[in-house]
Amino acid sequence: MSRLPAPVVRARAGFVARFGRAPTRIAYAPGRVNLMGDHTDYNDGLVLPCAIGCGTAVAMGPADDGCITALALDHGAASDQFAPAPPPPPLASGHWANHVRGVWAALTGDQRATLSGLALAISGDVPQGAGLSSSAALGVALATGFAALLDRPMTAAQRALAAQRSEHDHVGTNCGIMDQLVSAAASAGTASLIDCRSMAVTPAPIAPNIAIIIAHSGVVRELAASAYNQRRRECAAAAAHFGAASLRDVTPDQLAAAQPALDPQLFARARHVIGENARVTAAVPALASGDLATLGGLMRASHAALRDDFAVSTPQVDALVEAINAMIGAHGGARMTGGGFGGCVAVLCDAARADDIAARIASEYQRPDGQPPLVLRVTPAAGARLYPGE
Ligand code: GLA
Repeated sequence: MSRLPAPVVRARAGFVARFGRAPTRIAYAPGRVNLMGDHTDYNDGLVLPCAIGCGTAVAMGPADDGCITALALDHGAASDQFAPAPPPPPLASGHWANHVRGVWAALTGDQRATLSGLALAISGDVPQGAGLSSSAALGVALATGFAALLDRPMTAAQRALAAQRSEHDHVGTNCGIMDQLVSAAASAGTASLIDCRSMAVTPAPIAPNIAIIIAHSGVVRELAASAYNQRRRECAAAAAHFGAASLRDVTPDQLAAAQPALDPQLFARARHVIGENARVTAAVPALASGDLATLGGLMRASHAALRDDFAVSTPQVDALVEAINAMIGAHGGARMTGGGFGGCVAVLCDAARADDIAARIASEYQRPDGQPPLVLRVTPAAGARLYPGE
């Protein structure tokens, strides 16, 4: 068996230290990097993420005090306690325990959970605010653990939807389904092509000559939520212009024909989404065949559309992407990844040059926050799983 993820080891040790007994199980779910297809998921579109080797673990065991007690080992062992029923209300906006309450509420819903009590210890190593889906990792780990605990068979898609409902109802982020679904359903060694309309997840092979690197811009994603929700509204308004359920149903020809009548900003938003779906479709065979020249063109076009048409990049992220593209040349490329407004850049490059490129990014890029560089080479990881507690 491969080595245990570090958060699993920490969550188990923290559980034992605080509760004085071993947990019965430990649920773990990974963060993600998206290789192609951003701001397409809530438009019923296509995405191409892969799970990464950082994630969140939740150690769980029964308690006899009639309460659910959750311990955040990475927040100074802060704790939250609530009754299993009725579904718990959220705490103040931004409180870490809203994930725990939200996923519990999403799973138990209208039925009264009969439980003598439950103890949880949580630990993770996904960098926060980096656009690598630390919240989806937590939500999916909780959904996976709770489903096992309640003895409720749930598919990866159902666990992803429960984690997404928690984000919408308790956390206050109106996110799409990409992050939760890849965290729940990824296969090790491949990316995942996800059709966000049908929720079908298809493993997308990555040729061995391709390496994936992520580099943090050092801009922590703030104010992202309000701009994200605004983009969602703009996309819905653009789809409504076409009488379409979503931008997934609008063709490039329809878009071109509508340009004179469509508000220029809505036109630009739609052009990004429609083009980005096509870029995901083109990236899948290029990833499988190791065609770095094609991927390089797609990465550059995607970044330009996210920057110019969708307006979700920042000058620092643009500068980092340009510097990496200059290092790589025609064999691969870089783009922002995830929601935008800071966070990480995704890089596809020649595996033989990957260590050199990673070292150059780390030595040449000055983060605006003065923090040390965060440059990681990614081995695509498997989705959520359970480990025994003992
Ligand atoms: C965030 C959201 C996702 C997705 C991306 C942009 O990560 O959580 O649902 O919309 O932004 O692709």
